[in-house]
Amino acid sequence: MLAETTSFTLEGITARPVKVEVDIHRGLPSFQIVGLPDAAVREARERVRAALVNTGFEFPLRRITANLAPADLRKAGPGLDLALATGLLAASGELPPDRLTGWAFAGELALDGSVRPVRGALAMTEAARECSCRGIILPAANGPEAALAPGIEVRTIDSIAELRQFRGGDVPGHRPEPAEPVSGDSLPDLRDLRGQANLRRAIEVAAAGGHSLLMVGPPGSGKSLAARRIPSVLPPLASDEILEVARIAGVCGAGSLRAERPFRAPHHTVSAAGLVGGGSPPRPGEITLAHRGVLFLDELCEFRRPALEALREPLESGEVSISRVNGRRTLPADFTLIAAANPCPCGRGEEDPECECSPAAVARYKGTLSGALADRIDIIVGVTQPDPEAMAGGDGECSSAVRARVSAARERMRERLGAGRPNAAATRSEVSQFELEACARDLLVEAGRSRRLSGRSHDRILRLARTVADLDGSGPVREDHLAGALQLRRRSGS
Ligand SMILES: Nc1ncnc2c1ncn2[C@@H]1O[C@H](COP(=O)(O)OP(=O)(O)O)[C@@H](O)[C@H]1O
Ligand SMILES: [Mg+2]
Repeated sequence: MLAETTSFTLEGITARPVKVEVDIHRGLPSFQIVGLPDAAVREARERVRAALVNTGFEFPLRRITANLAPADLRKAGPGLDLALATGLLAASGELPPDRLTGWAFAGELALDGSVRPVRGALAMTEAARECSCRGIILPAANGPEAALAPGIEVRTIDSIAELRQFRGGDVPGHRPEPAEPVSGDSLPDLRDLRGQANLRRAIEVAAAGGHSLLMVGPPGSGKSLAARRIPSVLPPLASDEILEVARIAGVCGAGSLRAERPFRAPHHTVSAAGLVGGGSPPRPGEITLAHRGVLFLDELCEFRRPALEALREPLESGEVSISRVNGRRTLPADFTLIAAANPCPCGRGEEDPECECSPAAVARYKGTLSGALADRIDIIVGVTQPDPEAMAGGDGECSSAVRARVSAARERMRERLGAGRPNAAATRSEVSQFELEACARDLLVEAGRSRRLSGRSHDRILRLARTVADLDGSGPVREDHLAGALQLRRRSGS
């Protein structure tokens, strides 16, 4: 007999539907899977066989062929196990095929018949809705992620033994509750940062406008501490952004089931492919995992040059395109870059009499700083050791107060540029429409001459000034806003 079920395989961050056709014929007992399965899919035979037998189902001692369509799509991973087992049960008459119609399945099987979570549950659930499935049946651990998808029934099971409920006309499993969004209050709080008024200001402007930020200062001055607190001052994700972020985290197996802004801090040994995505089969990189959140590059100068170079394009466009054998694929990568660096190789800084770095070493180090990414970084802030008095004093301002100002500024940006687009994302034509007071314009022209600004730097300063004005609640960009923006780019040398 022939039976058919629906499942999915992941390609990049997309779930592609797979039809699982199972045919049982007379003949010598065998179990074949065809249709471009990878090694994990081929091994499904052993898992399905053991799982069925160990949960008391009959495993047909006949010739079994499973075909995965479309035949030209590579099927990867163990997520097809559950659909293969269900199809086999329908083809052997253990389950009524008509009751399975319209249901999609995804899950890995353990030998005792329990189901294990899969990567990409949300992407698969959305794909099931798109191909007009009635619902999807998944492992219990995937429930909160899958239930984020609106407009489709989600059921979760712990074991394939529960599939027996199809016999009585019921649908097996439970309806899971969706993952709860996490509020900024439960994240590490900016109140822990003592002193450092300049750094605080830079963080607030970066968070409000989505501007990239480089902190340059000696070790132990609080750079890493501050960076880890930036997600808590960002406004909460909008509901469509929660879905986007959860979809990516789910596909990459990074799903914390917490609907919060991502914070990714890859180690400086990361490869270019690890950072921006790639490899074979192509996998999303850190910048895609940081989509709608923060990418923190600590010890910026230690990163490999090719990895930093690879960041240039995504920093401009908010997405990354990865070459593949059969064309290019574009992945989302709209993140705020936060970086930290020491002022010189020993970390003390040239002005410090104890700095032992040779002038050549300092020059090389500064070359790295000003090379790869300097023209893509909006704000450069010099950090010094915190004032002893501030360190001995009380807490700094807490994140919720900063977040309130950031959110108010973002609201002004939303009215001007549309949802999810802070000033850093403004296009050339949008920048040219920013309202500028005459003396602010004069100051910009003067700075352009004296600093010999590139066209790109010019626009960056305008975006930055726009954010300073938005934080100030001002319609036009005034002279003091522009001066503030120039100040925030001071260490860039541009
Ligand atoms: N400004 C500061 N406010 C509060 N604690 C600080 C500050 N600067 C440093 N510290 C303390 O020193 C530790 C190391 O700081 P860290 O952020 O790692 O410095 P850096 O990244 O600049 O080398 C922090 O965990 C914190 O305990
Ligand atoms: Mg550090």
